Amino acid sequence: MSATFTPVTEPIAAYIETLFSAEDEILRQLRQEAAAAGMPAIHISGAQGAVLQVLLMAIGAERVLEIGSLGGYSAIVMARALPPTGKVVCVEINPTYCAFIERQATRAGLADRIEVRCGAALEVLDQLPMEPLFDAVFIDADKPNYGNYLERCYGRVRSGGLIIADNTLAWGHIAEQNPTFEPANVQALQEYNRRIAAHPGLRTAMIPTGDGMTVAIKR
Ligand code: DHB
Ligand code: MG
Repeated sequence: MSATFTPVTEPIAAYIETLFSAEDEILRQLRQEAAAAGMPAIHISGAQGAVLQVLLMAIGAERVLEIGSLGGYSAIVMARALPPTGKVVCVEINPTYCAFIERQATRAGLADRIEVRCGAALEVLDQLPMEPLFDAVFIDADKPNYGNYLERCYGRVRSGGLIIADNTLAWGHIAEQNPTFEPANVQALQEYNRRIAAHPGLRTAMIPTGDGMTVAIKR
């Protein structure tokens, strides 16, 4: 009987990656091609991918909205947790990255399950029809806009659907009162966690895998 919190040390994180990673050869190659193309290595971890897949499968997700897709790593991970008729709508601001995602989706045999919308997310969302609703949203774009993404996405998620955000442990700085590391980003993530924890329409939990994912289910 214990309320002990077990810190995820490097060896424990490596252990989790070894046993519970969603990464396969296709995703490994995507990472290599992304690095060769000069893209930052800020994709989710294999273990985070496995968590996302379990969450999406648990709710029987068919439609997922991703805000900030980078090279399509998490989009491919999530698309694989959907039925063949499922769809991940990727919103990505960088046109070079958008083309990269489309190539990778085709290479992964998921071109029909991954749809890329190129542009700034708030503008793309303004153009996107309100229906059909999404089963899940994964927020992983610019941190200062996380609150705006939450606000704009809430009405687009079905009851029983999920709103998941990446980096909500803020590179390890989330509990600092006066962060000096990327303070604008860390404070935005602190504000996001505060807001979503208090949101009356959501039940929220923190999954401290990778750099942390806040997972909220819509009541
Ligand atoms: C950064 C962004 C991310 O989404 C991430 O997972 C890691 C790092 C960044 O902007 O530095
Ligand atoms: Mg991230």
